[in-house]
Amino acid sequence: MPVSETIRKDLERSSWIRRMFEEGRRLKERFGEDRVWDFSLGNPDVEPPPEFRIALRELADSGEKGLHSYMPNAGYLFTRESCARKASRDHAMNVGADGIVMTVGAAGALNVALKTILNPGDEVIVIRPYFAEYRFYIKNHGGVMIDVPSAADFSPDPDAIARVLTPDTAALIINTPNNPSGHIYPRADIEALATVLAKHGKACGRLPFLLVDEPYRELVYDGAVTPPVMDAYAETIVAYSYSNSLSLPGERIGYLAVSPACADRKILMDGLSMSNRALGYVNAPALMQRILVKLEGCTADTTSYRIRRGLISGIVGKAGIEFARPEGAFYLFCRVPSGGPSADDVDFVMHLKRHNILGVPGIGFGCPGWFRLSYCVAESVIRGSAAAFEAAVAAWRG
Ligand SMILES: Cc1ncc(COP(=O)(O)O)c(C=O)c1O
Repeated sequence: MPVSETIRKDLERSSWIRRMFEEGRRLKERFGEDRVWDFSLGNPDVEPPPEFRIALRELADSGEKGLHSYMPNAGYLFTRESCARKASRDHAMNVGADGIVMTVGAAGALNVALKTILNPGDEVIVIRPYFAEYRFYIKNHGGVMIDVPSAADFSPDPDAIARVLTPDTAALIINTPNNPSGHIYPRADIEALATVLAKHGKACGRLPFLLVDEPYRELVYDGAVTPPVMDAYAETIVAYSYSNSLSLPGERIGYLAVSPACADRKILMDGLSMSNRALGYVNAPALMQRILVKLEGCTADTTSYRIRRGLISGIVGKAGIEFARPEGAFYLFCRVPSGGPSADDVDFVMHLKRHNILGVPGIGFGCPGWFRLSYCVAESVIRGSAAAFEAAVAAWRG
């Protein structure tokens, strides 16, 4: 057997997102690129800010020795200082460079954090709808994923979380702005979660970590602000990435920021550095770490996501599909239309595929009855899909 049992099973159940993306490729070969409306993959497609190219060129031309060498596993001190300033602003706490570990994106950050904190069989709570990869990340490090429903507007439900907390709960992961719902958790909800976790910790002697996955922090609409979390709960670990704010997903750069109020912070920080090494990342990409310092305060121009949010909302709404209005990120989370042969999201996504529209079933995010459309695609794809959506919904309703 060329692969392990675990990987074989994971491949069979493999991510719906990837599966639909592959379907898209096949459909495009058959019908042509411009006849397929592919909303399956969340691949940030705006260009990085112009300062990025300038900084890259400056670095390449600098002739500085050792640009490509190993460094401490946590990253360059000057980069951690820069990221600490950002984390301090974002989270209303004085984080400090000693509270930062540079990582290979948010995905790397989450894996490093989970490897560091989980004992075999420890439980990690996630809130539906959740980023589908959490299941793999948690399993990677011997954890057990416990998923709980959210409220009707996709806000976290503190009572639902309180019901599943046990002495084995190592962490609660929250993702705000959320993929796939686009919801930003309001400050009051974060405080309510902090209260539930603190109460549980006091009663059982183990404070769960609050692991905040926030790769979409700045990708928000209508003047919204993603509230701070760290100042609400001491045991907070933030996983941040520049995949969206600088539009650098392929460059794999992010960080972990740990609250200065966290108990046993020193050993936790040492553990995170150790895990960065033990997982084989060793350190986050060197050139990107240098570039972040030059680009402190810069963001990619994400105006086009707002325009595309408006376009897709109009088209999908006109076709008679209900959706949650995204406050952040670039996904439209839609309800399977009523009046069809079933309320099943896989059935409906397969039906959409017959109209050359590709989305992702909600089941992959723990939310059957829903499906996700990613609108980081060309405006022409969104505009071109209007007739196909109308035909698909009409045919669904018979
Ligand atoms: C919720 C969420 N977390 C983490 C990630 C991983 O992001 P990164 O590119 O920074 O590794 C993604 C990427 O799509 C995401 O949507």
